[in-house]
Amino acid sequence: MAEELFIDSSLSKKEKYTSLIPMIKGLVEAETSLIANLANTAAVLKEAFHWWWVGFYLVEENQLVLGPFQGPVACTRIAFGKGVCGTAWKEKTTQLVPDVDQFPGHIACSSASRSELVLPLINEEGEVWGVLDIDSEHLNHFDEVDVNCMEEIVGLLHK
Ligand code: SME
Repeated sequence: MAEELFIDSSLSKKEKYTSLIPMIKGLVEAETSLIANLANTAAVLKEAFHWWWVGFYLVEENQLVLGPFQGPVACTRIAFGKGVCGTAWKEKTTQLVPDVDQFPGHIACSSASRSELVLPLINEEGEVWGVLDIDSEHLNHFDEVDVNCMEEIVGLLHK
């Protein structure tokens, strides 16, 4: 099914999230393919917010492996506990990083990335099956609105 989503660029950040959440819910409920759903979620988020990089890493054995994303070419594999993504996996918590230079062990896939928000994707058994990584070329780009709304969005995604 072809989809065209309209995101009004004059909306505030909170208003954009409010209109995006039902769009993403509709997209992922209409399709059973995990890869298709992650790809469309990354595309919707990129189109709405124009972040530098937004995408998924999926747990494969003892590593995170690059999944669907929007943005420049990225690192393909991240070990458990390494970088912001590996930390979100290990700690099972959202990582809000206002300045990547202050995060010990940050993995610089792109030198343009200045701040990050990484959310773990957790199944009903409490296991992390992936992470959603959002990178900005601006310092201190993300706040509690992003954390709360993105936690709601990742809650819509199921393996
Ligand atoms: N920022 C990540 C690495 C992945 S890239 O930025 C796409 C990290 O330190 O975990």
